[in-house]
Parts: sequence; C-alpha cells; structure tokens
Amino acid sequence: MSFLTGLLQLLPPETAHNVTIQLTKYGSSFIGSGFHDQSLYTNIKGLSFSNPLGIAAGFDKNAELIDPLLKIGFGFVECGTVTPMPQFGNTKPRVFRLKKDNAIINRLGFNNKGEKRFVKNLMSAKKKGIVGSNIGPNKDSKNFVDDYLKIYRKISVYCDYVTINVSSPNTEALRELQRKEYLEVLLREISQIRDEEKNKKPIMLKIDPDNTNDHYSMILNLVNKYNIDGIIATNTSVSRPEILRDLNKKRKGGLSGTPIKDLSDKVLKFLYQETNQELILIGVGGVGSALDVYNKIKLGASLVQIYTSLTYGGPHLINQILIDLVKLIKDDGFANITEAVGVNNK
Ligand SMILES: Cc1cc2nc3c(=O)[nH]c(=O)nc-3n(C[C@H](O)[C@H](O)[C@H](O)COP(=O)(O)O)c2cc1C
Repeated sequence: MSFLTGLLQLLPPETAHNVTIQLTKYGSSFIGSGFHDQSLYTNIKGLSFSNPLGIAAGFDKNAELIDPLLKIGFGFVECGTVTPMPQFGNTKPRVFRLKKDNAIINRLGFNNKGEKRFVKNLMSAKKKGIVGSNIGPNKDSKNFVDDYLKIYRKISVYCDYVTINVSSPNTEALRELQRKEYLEVLLREISQIRDEEKNKKPIMLKIDPDNTNDHYSMILNLVNKYNIDGIIATNTSVSRPEILRDLNKKRKGGLSGTPIKDLSDKVLKFLYQETNQELILIGVGGVGSALDVYNKIKLGASLVQIYTSLTYGGPHLINQILIDLVKLIKDDGFANITEAVGVNNK
C-alpha cells in the first residue's frame, strides 16, 4: 500500500472515493502507464482487450474517468450504474469498510448524475480501450423495465457493451427483476431493440451471488433464448459469511471483497459448466491478486473485474496483478491467457 492510499484510508470511505475520483481525473499522469504484454491480449466478440482485467461497475458511476483508468492499466472499464434521471441515492453514511476482512459493505443506491451527463462524458472520452455501460432504473420509477429500455436506446451507440444490472441489493425490489416473469419481459424487450440496431453491441447481464443453482439455470435459459451475450458473476452479496470479523459486518447493504470470493466463484463455476461456452463470462468478486484473477479464468471467465481490493491496495495493484499474471500463464506453459479459460472446470 502506498503512502497516499494509506492516507485515503483515514478518510470516511465515501469521502476517500470522491478524493480518489479527483486524483484519478487530474493526477493520472503521476501514476504512470499500464503494463502491456502480448500474452494478456484477448479478443471477444470482435472487441480487443489489451488485458482481461477491468474495473467493476460502481467505481466510475458517471463515466468521468474512462481515459485515466484505461491509461493506468485496465483492459476495460465498466461505467455506471447509470439511471435515466440523476439521483442522490440512500442517506449517508452508506459505505462501510470492513478492514479486518478486506471487505466493504455499501448501500449507495445508484447515486449518479443521470443519463445525459453520462452520455456527454462517454462522447468526450478518447476511449483507447474497451468501455462498457452498466444501466439501472431510477428508484422512484413507475416501471423499471421502461427505464432500462429508455437508457439502453440512448447509451448503446456510445460504448462497446451494455450491462443490465438486476442485482444491486440497494434499490428496493430490483432483485425481483431476476424472477422469471420479469426477467423474461426485460430480456425480450431489450433484445428486440438490439436486434433492430445496425451496429449491435454485446449485452451482459449482471447477477447476484445469493441464489440457487436452479435459479441460475432459469437465468441461463432466458439468456440463451434472447441471445444475451454474457453474464457478469457477481454483484455484492446480502449474505454475511461466518468468517467476517469486523464489527461493521452488521451494516445493511451489499458485501464485497475477499469474503465473497468463494460465493462468486461458485456461481461462475456453475455457469461455465452449464453453458455451451459461447456465453461470455466475466468473473468478479473478491479479486485481490493475480492468482485470484487466474483462478476465475481457469474456472471459465474470459474477463475479470475488481473493485474492493483496489480501495485497499491502491492503483499500483493493477500493474502488479498484470505482471504476476503473465508469470502464472508462462509457468503453466500457455502462450496466451485465452488458452487458460475454463481449464480447471471441464
Ligand atoms: C462502493 C461500491 C459501489 C458499487 N456500485 C455498483 C454499481 O453501481 N453497479 C454495479 O453493478 N455494481 C456495483 N458494485 C459491485 C461491484 O461492481 C462488484 O460486482 C462487487 O463489488 C464485487 O467485486 P469486488 O469484490 O472486487 O469489489 C459496487 C461495489 C462497491 C464496493
């Protein structure tokens, strides 16, 4: 951990995040450039990723850090969750560190500046890398599905892929959308819009880690039926694993970081086993090292995302992970990361 990252840990978590946003925006030239190696290059659905490590949704909610995040080493950036209208989110405090567990509990509730600002930022970014937009409904919306469709229409043209977020635990009733009757309507309608587009963008569905395999099978059926391109596994968890030691474990919200790694990996493992391997899987949850990234890839993820560990480790963690990942690939005798996808889960 650097001196600066240590200082940020002294601030309340949401203040530290806001300072980090400003530092990343205006100070990325001091952080330096990302590590590159041909063995990390991967091409998925015609999109070129310089490496498989992305920043997970929620870090850059308003798409204002795309260029610095790509510059400091991420292979892709997922912005959002963005909603049609700006919204404040839940009352503060709403982000809690669980230092002893390398974890966070958040109940932000889709605080963001809304679709108009998001699109403006997307348009003005140079985007020298892959950019995804993660979309969700406004909390007080009368019709959640309409919100997704509205925002999808406005945003898809300006980014490389779109993620439908039905798995945040912090917007009341949002996770209900993962029920068959609602999810079917949402996926049918959004795929119809996509199918009418000239330049079709991949659609990803982001799911939670708190469900049964039967439930995930139902999701897979719908994903196949409506040609959704991939699944992001997983969002934060409402569970509280027994291993948690920090007193903040009692806070309400979604748990992220090391304690959800096994939960997320279990979902990823199941999805890979059940799919025809045409589905793109993005593994996220508890990544803090190259080994964590590599394990998710070997379980079947083509791409991996990180959030919580970055807040503890600082931006230098990105290059460290990439450098170590190259070593792991080479030690296993692979020339490229794509050769490792799913090898531990056949
Ligand atoms: C403070 C915070 C805010 C988040 N906001 C979002 C969000 O807006 N949309 C979303 O899909 N996921 C959001 N997430 C979930 C992350 O994208 C990720 O799925 C989860 O944290 C697991 O990864 P991690 O263990 O590496 O943090 C958020 C996570 C954190 C910690």
